[in-house]
Amino acid sequence: MTRAISLHDVSKAYTRGARVVDRLSLDITPGEFLVLLGPSGCGKSTVLRMIAGLEEIDEGELLLDGEYANDLPPSGRDMAMVFQNFALYPNMTSRANIGFPLRIEAPGTDPTPRVDATARMLGIEDLLDRLPGQLSGGERQRVAMGRAIARHPSAFLMDEPLSNLDAKLRTHLRAEISQLTKELGVTTIYVTHDQAEAMSLGDRVAVLRGGVLQQVDSPRVVYALPSNVFVAAFIGTPRINLLRGLVRAPLDGAMTISLGKQFLRLPEPLSLDHQLLRVQQGREVIVGLRSEAVRIAKHSAARPGEVPITGLVEHVEFQGHEILVHFNTGSRPAVVPELEAPRPRPGRPARRRRREASVLTRLRERTGAGRSGPVVALDDPRDAGARPPAAEPRLPGDLIVRTTPDLALRHGMQVPLLVDLAHLFVFDQHGDRICPHPAHLPDLGE
Ligand SMILES: Nc1ncnc2c1ncn2[C@@H]1O[C@H](COP(=O)(O)OP(=O)(O)OP(=O)(O)O)[C@@H](O)[C@H]1O
Ligand SMILES: [Mg+2]
Repeated sequence: MTRAISLHDVSKAYTRGARVVDRLSLDITPGEFLVLLGPSGCGKSTVLRMIAGLEEIDEGELLLDGEYANDLPPSGRDMAMVFQNFALYPNMTSRANIGFPLRIEAPGTDPTPRVDATARMLGIEDLLDRLPGQLSGGERQRVAMGRAIARHPSAFLMDEPLSNLDAKLRTHLRAEISQLTKELGVTTIYVTHDQAEAMSLGDRVAVLRGGVLQQVDSPRVVYALPSNVFVAAFIGTPRINLLRGLVRAPLDGAMTISLGKQFLRLPEPLSLDHQLLRVQQGREVIVGLRSEAVRIAKHSAARPGEVPITGLVEHVEFQGHEILVHFNTGSRPAVVPELEAPRPRPGRPARRRRREASVLTRLRERTGAGRSGPVVALDDPRDAGARPPAAEPRLPGDLIVRTTPDLALRHGMQVPLLVDLAHLFVFDQHGDRICPHPAHLPDLGE
């Protein structure tokens, strides 16, 4: 049996007034593999623990197969949880660890046939007589999975089950988990902060930020049509280029988006998406260009829909099969708060810093309080004199372009670039996507 899991306006606060999950609504269909994705501290584990019954729900409803389940004890929910730290009993063999929940559920029944069948499925038959201390990390995680599977639960809840493993093993087990859950057809909710993992595993990906659901869609849609700048920046490598632009739409001339020293001229006749940008005339917007939206080529080689700009090579990152070129185009990058800096710990006063608190600092403090602030900060931290902490150092250049490794590019070279406007994203001052297909119709009364 597999089950439908629904959350309706579910909220949770550990301290009064600071919601770590804020009115979350999600409908997960039977057999679906849903990934909860978001940065550290955004409330992913809390959501999973509320579904498992390990954490109380403050407001809203949890429905299991349409039945109200807020008060159902964990044992009555028929779900198996896999934790990040494996959580095996150290003094029990793998066989005993896998069989343990079966012995609790059905005392007197011999768990051996189910344990053996599970071990065969996971390819761990030869590990059954070993203690956890005699297993590698990957083997321990397989045993932990075995313990969850052997019970034949109606749902799996997995909280970053692979984050303690090295990259190669993670990729390998990721494929195994995907195959296994498909075979079993059991509803699975999988928590991760790794966007690549989310994209490769999920039927759908739910992106959380500060306890607030930003978007839930298939991996393809969250990548191609992110509903806001946070989702756009969280998903995809290299990270989307986000530049601060200004829309100019003169009545008697071509519409452009100025990017500091250069501009993108929108080709005539304007597409429907570009026509909708007209209402942004004179306003600051955020231009999003994924690396595939820009190529290095002579301006004379422009195809329809491509417009020219120029970049100065700042840095070349060799990746083997490709290179990432960091250009300076004279534009200013937009800042997405929770991606640039680690989440501040609420309740640390930092009085000295408050005096020099910039808008950005205040904004971070607001997100630290568990509420979700604006998804983009239009003040550059360099202007405010308060550089973001060095969690994720700002890379040189404002535009990163992917290219083949045969191009000989050196620091300081002036290079012609073509921007494909079919791949142009534009977000408004609040970070909401307005191009392509506006997520929200522009507010003309603003
Ligand atoms: N028992 C608790 N008491 C008080 N605050 C808590 C408690 N558990 C979690 N929090 C806070 O709730 C917020 C969300 O925590 P949660 O563990 O759900 O985040 P997460 O998205 O799983 O993060 P990570 O990726 O780091 O595991 C955090 O700010 C955390 O400090
Ligand atoms: Mg967590």
